[in-house]
Amino acid sequence: MNIPKLQIGNIMSEVPIVQGGMGVRVSLSSLAAAVANEGGIGTISSIALGDINVSKNEYEKNSREALIREIRKAKSMTKGILAVNVMEALSNAKDLIKAAVKEGIKMIVVGAGLPLKLPAIVEDDSVNLVPIVSSGRAAGLILRSWDKRYQRTADGFILEGPLAGGHLGFSTEQLDHINEYSLEKLLPDVLSAVKSYEEKYGKKIPIIVGGGIFDGKDIKQMLSLGASGVQMGTRFVCTDECNVSPEFKQAYLEASEEDIEIIKSPVGMPGRAIKNKFLKRVENNGRLRIKCPYKCLSACDIVKAKYCIAKALLNSWAGDVDNGLIFCGQNAYRVNKIISVKELFSELCADLKAA
Ligand SMILES: Cc1cc2nc3c(=O)[nH]c(=O)nc-3n(C[C@H](O)[C@H](O)[C@H](O)COP(=O)(O)O)c2cc1C
Repeated sequence: MNIPKLQIGNIMSEVPIVQGGMGVRVSLSSLAAAVANEGGIGTISSIALGDINVSKNEYEKNSREALIREIRKAKSMTKGILAVNVMEALSNAKDLIKAAVKEGIKMIVVGAGLPLKLPAIVEDDSVNLVPIVSSGRAAGLILRSWDKRYQRTADGFILEGPLAGGHLGFSTEQLDHINEYSLEKLLPDVLSAVKSYEEKYGKKIPIIVGGGIFDGKDIKQMLSLGASGVQMGTRFVCTDECNVSPEFKQAYLEASEEDIEIIKSPVGMPGRAIKNKFLKRVENNGRLRIKCPYKCLSACDIVKAKYCIAKALLNSWAGDVDNGLIFCGQNAYRVNKIISVKELFSELCADLKAA
């Protein structure tokens, strides 16, 4: 079997694997460039790159400058395809998207909210717009709104299922019935939501599925159900090129299935993380002290939030995992070694061919 390529608007990757954007410095230039060099799509996350201890104006400026630095660094390491991930819920989302486009990024991926105004921010239609959704309904809403207001359609969707890492687009009640929201069940709805827009705009709107994809067999299964590609996060955390602290990677290696739990993030959405001392402390103390010079997430309620999620994720990124949050996908317990991105791609591609 030849490995199918992945076409998203005007870009085509050799391998149908997108490395998902992982916020708070987990997926930066070194990881994204390594993935792009293997023929996948490497995603730089734009989230919390600035120093969170500075004032509002400075934070926006130094976040933007840090993103520009990461994009330029990645571009110096690869000629492959790079994307930038932005959370709709970020207070400075618009500024980051504009900066990424100005730096020549041709794929903008937006999650954690419905990016209904994205085409107004990115007027250049050579830039591919790829929202992250968790249902056919959300895809339909975006498509209808973009069509009506901007006469534009999406260039692709990432369909993120309930096994994914980070924040999840499902309610805690839905997550209690996870099997009802499997990718196998969600994908047909999204495929049907895009159909009439594919016909109207005369182009394919590829669906890239993510959440729990672990090996080549999983990829094969998703392609056979009509996905055009997969997005993977967890497996890329334990690669040499991912620049989280060794302690962060070690937490993945040591986690058992029972250690992985759904948490209620201060952002108001559920998320998935590894149980650790930090989460125990939050459970016991109720609320940790928050110092917030800049409200980085528009939905964050500083009065009610139990902790500052940006600070908690930064702590883990830097190695202080006992005082930090470790986001992960449901399959993190299956990761048992740290390998290079090249090795991971060889393994996935060999598996996919065999499947
Ligand atoms: C540590 C970590 C951080 C993540 N952060 C983000 C994020 O900031 N924005 C986002 O859209 N997705 C985020 N994700 C989700 C990934 O991009 C990806 O879609 C998901 O993890 C795929 O599921 P998998 O981990 O089972 O492969 C994160 C995932 C992980 C593991």
